[in-house]
Amino acid sequence: MDDSRRAPEGVDPTVPNIARMYDYYLGGKDNFAADREAAEKMLAIGRQMGNDGREVARENRGFLQRAVRHLAESGITQFVDIGAGLPTQENVHQVARRHAPGARVVYVDNDPVVLTHARALLADNPETIAVAGDVRDPDAVFDDPEVRAHIDFARPFAVLLVSVLHFVTDDEDADRIVARIRERMVPGCHLVLSHILTTDEVAEEVVAESKKVYAATSSGGLVGRPFKRIEAFFDGLEILEPGLVPVQAWRPDVPWEVQADDRTGIFGAVGGMP
Ligand SMILES: C[S@@+](CC[C@H](N)C(=O)[O-])C[C@H]1O[C@@H](n2cnc3c(N)ncnc32)[C@H](O)[C@@H]1O
Repeated sequence: MDDSRRAPEGVDPTVPNIARMYDYYLGGKDNFAADREAAEKMLAIGRQMGNDGREVARENRGFLQRAVRHLAESGITQFVDIGAGLPTQENVHQVARRHAPGARVVYVDNDPVVLTHARALLADNPETIAVAGDVRDPDAVFDDPEVRAHIDFARPFAVLLVSVLHFVTDDEDADRIVARIRERMVPGCHLVLSHILTTDEVAEEVVAESKKVYAATSSGGLVGRPFKRIEAFFDGLEILEPGLVPVQAWRPDVPWEVQADDRTGIFGAVGGMP
């Protein structure tokens, strides 16, 4: 397939794009040769640690789906999914609406291709919208008139930051962003967050190699953070059981015993505003 001929206008198919790489990990078809090549490099790096990158991506989706299901069953009917990614199977609005009919969802992403795909999927779905926005400017997201018309921020809502903050490479910026989001939350709001962990289990050269691959992508970089830093994103929130854990161990549908190599994957948690 000649990728350059099927790339939408304004999209450079020769620069690996993180949303399309993730789509490739998940077995999707919305990706180009450059995305697949960069993704394969990451899969090879993962194999050095005994990790299956595709499995990690699927487990991250599983976490997101179980967290949304839990919140919808607990009465949350408004979801703001920032860094939403290309539509795939069992997207947030599908899971939320199954467990909380009428739930309203806003997908936010800074990638125009993600928005085009999301809007096409949602054409006949008035309870769900997709807007352009950047996680690094949460006020602009929360104050966007389209978002404000869709979500009642005076009532409990959930914010999803699932596998997005590790693309915010400036450490202080990530803290400021999440602190600002917490400030906008009212009692009963929830934060669903997953993030790549930096641990002693991950060799320095593996981290360096991964950073090199992502430095050449649309994100411009990748940053793992230590457990304590990820936990600090939940300051002032009550972290639900079982805490900040490898995503596959967050309320699994079938019992999951944490293996050593789970600690080299993605960690996630859900916190509630008391
Ligand atoms: C790895 S995907 C995660 C998708 C989905 N949240 C999930 O976990 O299944 C990361 C997404 O974050 C988006 N993204 C990266 N940086 C962003 C930013 N600064 N603002 C908004 N979205 C961003 C990318 O375009 C991509 O769609």
